[in-house]
Amino acid sequence: MPCTCCEPPELGDYEGMFDTEWASREADAYVRNGLETRAERLIAYLLENCSRPLHVLDVGSGAGGVHHELLRRGLAGSAVAVEASSAYIAAARQIGKRLGQESKVHYVHGDFTAAAAAVSSADAVILDRVICCYPHLGQLLGASAGKVERYLALSYPRERWWVRLAFGLFNLYLKVKRKDFRTFVHPHKEVHSIAARAGLEQVHAETEGFWQITVFERVGSRSAA
Ligand SMILES: C[S@@+](CC[C@H](N)C(=O)[O-])C[C@H]1O[C@@H](n2cnc3c(N)ncnc32)[C@H](O)[C@@H]1O
Repeated sequence: MPCTCCEPPELGDYEGMFDTEWASREADAYVRNGLETRAERLIAYLLENCSRPLHVLDVGSGAGGVHHELLRRGLAGSAVAVEASSAYIAAARQIGKRLGQESKVHYVHGDFTAAAAAVSSADAVILDRVICCYPHLGQLLGASAGKVERYLALSYPRERWWVRLAFGLFNLYLKVKRKDFRTFVHPHKEVHSIAARAGLEQVHAETEGFWQITVFERVGSRSAA
């Protein structure tokens, strides 16, 4: 059994949950309609406040809408995407080909908590709806925060009773379907203390439906830039 304080925990069934059918549906939706409002809001602060081409690390990148959109709009010059579902990586690669920007993204398949040591730091680290899919907040967010040169942009479930109810019902559905995957509404206090311990301060916060959107910035990085 792995030591939970320092070894990456066993990964849930991300391949089974985010399979080819799921990934194609999300990729099609992005190609047809662009980013969902939540993801659009998540990158808005970066688009408004950064002028240079950023190197982006997209953790739990899904079908790749966020990094592809940052590349397409010229804010990112390059990206690394780390994703636990191979179907999602295949879908994101397809979108990259379609947009002619596949050479700007390096994909890593696996659990970021295990892969982090081999991944370089980035100007902006993004986790859009990712910490709610992973049980060990400290390990995932701690490893992600450690890679931040300047910004950490997160979306995660709000601490509201109706959000908890929706996530609880979804977990019940997963249990009935005998799926090995669960979602988590992690305490926001913990999110903030992990960010603070990594030397990050909040520079932006807003909500969008079920989601809390928070952007942190590395203390002192503004004067260094
Ligand atoms: C709900 S999906 C969100 C995907 C995408 N960010 C979006 O918002 O469309 C959560 C994703 O996070 C990935 N994920 C969760 N924990 C991860 C980890 N520790 N390492 C890599 N990927 C992870 C899952 O495989 C899944 O693709």
